[in-house]
This record gives sequence, structure tokens and C-alpha cells, in this order.
Amino acid sequence: MAEKFISDIHLQNYAAGYETIQALYDDVIFMGGRKTRSLNGEWNYAVDQYDTCIRQKWYLENYEDQNGFSLPVDFSFEEWPKMELPCCWNTFAREYMLYEGPMVFFKSFSMSKEELECIEKHMKRVILRIGAASMLCRVFINGRYVGMHRGASTPFYFDLTYFLKEENRLLISVDSTRRPEQVPTENTDWYNYGGIFRDVELVSAPSLYVKDFKTALVRDGEFNKIKVKVLLSERAEGEAEYEIPELGIHERIEIKRGVGHAIIDVRPELWSPENPKLYDVTLRFEEDEVTDRVGFREIRTEGRDLLLNGKPIFLKGISAHEESVAHGRALTDEERVENIQLAKELGCNFMRVAHYPHHENMAKLADELGILLWEEIPVYWAIRFDREETFQDAKNQLAELITRDYNRASVIIWSVGNENADTDERLSFMSRLADYAHGVDHTRLVSAACLVDEENNRIADRLADSLDVIGLNEYCGWYNPDFGRLPKMLENSNPDKPVIITEFGADAMKGNRGSADIKGTEEYQAKIYKMQMETLLKIEYVKGMSPWILYDFRCPRRTSSIQKYYNRKGLLDETKTYRKPAFYVLQKYYREIKE
Ligand code: GCU
Repeated sequence: MAEKFISDIHLQNYAAGYETIQALYDDVIFMGGRKTRSLNGEWNYAVDQYDTCIRQKWYLENYEDQNGFSLPVDFSFEEWPKMELPCCWNTFAREYMLYEGPMVFFKSFSMSKEELECIEKHMKRVILRIGAASMLCRVFINGRYVGMHRGASTPFYFDLTYFLKEENRLLISVDSTRRPEQVPTENTDWYNYGGIFRDVELVSAPSLYVKDFKTALVRDGEFNKIKVKVLLSERAEGEAEYEIPELGIHERIEIKRGVGHAIIDVRPELWSPENPKLYDVTLRFEEDEVTDRVGFREIRTEGRDLLLNGKPIFLKGISAHEESVAHGRALTDEERVENIQLAKELGCNFMRVAHYPHHENMAKLADELGILLWEEIPVYWAIRFDREETFQDAKNQLAELITRDYNRASVIIWSVGNENADTDERLSFMSRLADYAHGVDHTRLVSAACLVDEENNRIADRLADSLDVIGLNEYCGWYNPDFGRLPKMLENSNPDKPVIITEFGADAMKGNRGSADIKGTEEYQAKIYKMQMETLLKIEYVKGMSPWILYDFRCPRRTSSIQKYYNRKGLLDETKTYRKPAFYVLQKYYREIKE
């Protein structure tokens, strides 16, 4: 048999060559205001259960052997069926609902001779941006391996400039397989959607462009200074222009070795959920110009208080996954707006968008509509805390999230994980993540959703020393049948910083009415919410909560007669058309909380 096919059979570490050239947070290009060429729309695709695309190197499209004899091939890109991207393949076709593994996507696109000449003449860059692809993504173009990305929820970038031709053949392999060493691991409490479920686009930029642009209010309790940080694609010298016309700001910022910083004295109208004031900001450097819409606000803690713009705030929140029945993880903006409006109808000023970075539009919409956000990376449950590669994966996803959403006023908390056992390895792993977030972002708080120290029934997670705010998941009255443990736990605890109860709740199947003493009824769920709120609102150091969860969501672990592969702790059902009685219980308590 030809050498090519022998390798397919015997080469076990076939993927080794595709673990290289990993797209990282530092490959970013700032996107605000840039013209992009969308590659959304029809892509050819094939289900590739045995990873044959990688094993056989389909991207080479080598139809002949070294003697020029034609080879039998196992792909025909243009004849494959079509899928409209972005989407999750699980909701695209019923037969793919439970599919986990590699799927291969193909699209050809043209560049005119003039475009290519212009790129060459002006040394422009053409960068591919993929908003999110789950979980392990490899990119090929015109017979060349471009690189790979780990993680299912953060954007990544590849410079395609030197690969481009007039006719381009883009091949992307997306492998949604869950693995213990990944972030998240193979075991979570949510549905493992697969696909390229956020935008795919080409971004043109000058040869010297703005890679990163951060701007925020200086956090010093004065509310009268804005800071700016500019990072260019090369270590160039020169002057950038930073403008906020509405504030009369036209600042020239010196750039040295590709970096520029400025502190500008100005007292902007402050952003808050009640007054989501945004300013149009422009940054120019030579031929490059980027824009953003930025709100200026300050979030900090003082002892056990949370202060927004210097005033104590209580976070009336709710948790939410990024999911809809129709679209899985590939929500539409209308669905995101609906989620924010439902949270506001509940009386919320805060949402915990769990357990992974949601689409960037969630934070942009939160900026516009006025709601605070807790954003999180999926360091969830039993991560391989002993593996440095796993730490680098988690840190990169955190860095990608912070780089993406730094200018979003609505985002007040970066969470480095959820419900992780308090071991030495986990402490080292997650405190390093918290230290990283503190190091790159002085304008936000860092937290994590911690577990109760059940043995001593108190808040005592060692990670708390690295956090500004302690997130705490407790299910007294549900997983902990003895609700009485909650007041005792709260009494046993004496945290030196604010606590947010990041999860409490109970399952209830829509329409399952009955005694308030029977778990799974709507009455039981409503009773738990009442008991939780009556208890928690008495505790001085509890400065907020984000009960679990706004609406029911798909979960392969949940097979009981009331669950039917859904986690039913939602205050609404999965279609978001039915409000369970607990919705109104929480709404009542939030409406009675005086600001
Ligand atoms: C956990 C976890 C959630 C999960 C929830 C539940 O606390 O953080 O992801 O869905 O509890 O068990 O319903």
C-alpha cells in the first residue's frame, strides 16, 4: 500500500504535529470599529469521528503520489453538505444532537489581484478571527497548517497574510471531545455543545496596528482620571491620538517600543446600571484607527462592603448559562437581550454569566442596557490542578477573556473558577490565576465560586486570601437537606471581605405542582427561595447573590422524571416562556431591598 495510507494505520501520535503554533491571548488584534469581511454563512462540513482529517492530512489535498499516480481520497470538500455558521452542530441536525468529536468545515474565498497587490504594497495584514470554537480547533489554509487553539469560549486570531492567494481554501477541524486535562474537564454540569458557534471573520489592518487598547477610570476613589494603555503590533515609536469628543478629550500619547500609557484628568459622567452612560472613544496611530463605546465606573471593596462609584451596592443577581433550546451556545443577540430583560424584570442589577466566557456581545449589551456582570473561566470542579500545561490553558483563557472585555464597564468581577475542592494543588493553581488577573487589571475585582467547608460548616476556603470577593455556592434545603445548616454556617463564619452567595436553588419541573414539602415541585422551589432570602438578607457580610439559575438548561447528567436531561433549577423553563412561582418570590425580595 502507498506510504501515505500505511501512516494512517500505524501512526498513533498522529496529532503531535498539530499541538504546535497555539493561538494565544497575545495574538490579539483590537477589533473595535474595524471593517471586517465576514466568513459566516454556508460552509461545507463532514463529521470526522476518527479525526481522519488530521491523520490523513486532508488539508494537503494531495490527490497524487510522488510518481504522479492519482490517489484515492476520503474527502470531497465542495461536495460535502452545508452548514450555516456560526452554529452548534448539536442543534443543527437531530442526528448530531449527541455527537461529540471532530467535525471538519471547509470554505473557499477569493481575494482580488488588486487586494493582494495592495496588501503586498502597503504590507497590510489580514487576520482571521474566530469568536469561539469548541474545544480543540485546528486551522489550515491552501494546503498549509496555520495553527491551533484550546478552549471553547474565547476568541482567537491567526495572521493569514502570507498564506493568501486569489483563490483560498480554508479548512477548520473542530474537536469537541471532553478530556480530563482540558479546561473544562470531561465532567461538568452543562451540555457540551460542539461547533464554530461565534463569528468567523477576516480583519484587515495596516502593517503597524493597534493590538490592544485598554481604557478605564482610575480606581482611586476620586472619579476624576481616565487611564489609557496602548499596545502596538511592533515595538514602534511615535504618537497615538486618544479622543473622547463628548468630554473634549484630544490627547496625544507617546508610544515607545510599541507601548503607550496616559492618565487624563477628566470627570466623566459615571456608568451604573441605573445610568449606563457610554462614551464614543477613538484611538489613532499612524494609518490605524480603532473605536469603542466605553462606560467609566469604579468598583472596589472597603472592608466587607462593595462600592460602586463610591457608594455601597448590594448585588441583586441571577446566574445564567449561555444557551437556548433552538441555538444551543450560539445565542442570537435577541436571545441575549431577552436574558438581560428577564433579569431586570426579576429586579436584578447583576448577572453571573457562568461557567465560561459568554459571547462578547453579552458584555456590550450589558453596558448598553445597564446590568453588572460576573464573568468566569471554566476552571470547574476537578481540573487537573497538577498539570502545568492545564494551568497555561486556563491562564490563556483568562487572559483572552480579560483582553476581550477589559473596556466593558458592566464587567465588575473576573472569576477564576467554580466549586473546586480546597487542595494544595488547586490553591496554587487558582491563586496564580487570581494573581494574574490582579496583575493585568487594577480596575476590577477577582473572585471564584467556592464551596462551603462542610466539615466545619463554615466559609473557610484558603483561596479566599487571593480574592477580593468570596463567591459561595450553598444548597441548603436541596443537596444539603438540613436547611438549618445555613444559619449556623453563616454564624460560624467571619469573612474579612464581601461574600456573594453565587449559587443556591432547587429543581422544579414546570407545572409540577404539589406539597411544598416534596422536592421537585414548584412549591418546594419557591419555599427554598423564601427561606434562603429570609436567612441571607440578615447577614451583614453577604453583599449579593446570584441564585442558580435564570432558566432551565440542558444537562446530560440529569435523567430523572422531572429533569429529562435538563437541569430544572431555572426560575423559568427552558423556553423562557413559563415563570415558576420562585421567580416571583425572588422578585418580591429584590424589589424590597432598598438601594
Ligand atoms: C453546582 C454547579 C452548577 C450546577 C449546580 C447544580 O453548584 O456550580 O454548575 O449546575 O450546582 O447542581 O444544579
